[in-house]
Amino acid sequence: MKRIAVLTSGGDCPGMNAAIRSVVRTALSKGIEVYGIEQGYKGLIEGEFRKLESKDVANIIQKGGTFLRSARSERFKTEEGQKEAVKNLEKYNIDGLVVIGGDGSLRGATVLCGKYGVNVIGIPGSIDNDIYGTDMSIGVDTALNTIVRCIDSINDTASSHDRTFLIEVMGRNCGYLALMSAIAGGAEAVLIPEVPFNIEKIIEKIKKRYEEGKTRSIVIVAEGVGSAYDFGKVFGMIGGFETRITVLGHLQRGGSPTVFDRTLATRMGTFAVETLLDGTGCGKMVALQKTKMELVELNDVLNKKKELDPKLLEIAEILSN
Ligand code: ADP
Ligand code: F6P
Repeated sequence: MKRIAVLTSGGDCPGMNAAIRSVVRTALSKGIEVYGIEQGYKGLIEGEFRKLESKDVANIIQKGGTFLRSARSERFKTEEGQKEAVKNLEKYNIDGLVVIGGDGSLRGATVLCGKYGVNVIGIPGSIDNDIYGTDMSIGVDTALNTIVRCIDSINDTASSHDRTFLIEVMGRNCGYLALMSAIAGGAEAVLIPEVPFNIEKIIEKIKKRYEEGKTRSIVIVAEGVGSAYDFGKVFGMIGGFETRITVLGHLQRGGSPTVFDRTLATRMGTFAVETLLDGTGCGKMVALQKTKMELVELNDVLNKKKELDPKLLEIAEILSN
């Protein structure tokens, strides 16, 4: 291998820059040229390639987002778009491609590899932590820290007014962010798609807490179960609580990456290049498993479902009582 390329695709996340930096500098240290592809698969189709040197990735490790920018490309889902993308990889003599992104982006990587024989390796980057095979994806820790800072702030004002707050967090169909932020933020309840819940029971529990002298209640709502505004109406009507809603939205996706995310992204970037070069990484995704860097088949990543740890569910229930 003489020349590799790197792209970021799908929803951005804090730590993507750290991963790109690591890919670029590791490759350069081994005498490999690196091209950055702008705006994910969109740029791959449109030929937005630029050569990256060490100085191009200076001063980005601390920045959220992705300096290569990201995109969602419907065209890449078509055979016409994919052929165009492969043509560009050939035109630039790219021997290996590093795809940093969420499950959709990794699906795209699998197509490039399985259907067109491109040497691809994936790096899991998504705040949702819904990617099978890795304990943590890049961006999750930063998003959680952001969410918990918001919960703490809301706690202050909620306590002053004896209010019940419903805080909606991201995660698409996965309840990981909601569950972990509920545990770390000391919430009274958490609504996630993976576990059935009974609103009446939760309302009873919150009422009891108020009677016992609690001065506020926090309920974390995973976006995958529906709108916090809708649930808020039910809590207000049935429970009679003074209810307020906060939808955290995209602020969860931004901000300077935590030390955990910077180091995870850096380790993953280095491992991706090393295993792409020795041939073991092609068609695989880099994963964090029990503190170690491992490789997982992209086909497994896409066909198997990441489960929430039942112990965490139990802990959330016990500690909210
Ligand atoms: P994320 O990577 O954050 O999960 P998306 O699900 O939007 O984000 O996927 C990002 C991009 O990956 C899509 O816009 C598309 O270009 C590509 N992609 C997703 N699914 C497929 C697929 N089945 N085949 C080819 N490309 C896909
Ligand atoms: O996958 C990351 C994520 O932030 C999800 O948590 C959320 O549902 C979605 O992307 C939002 O997508 P968009 O940025 O296109 O609104």
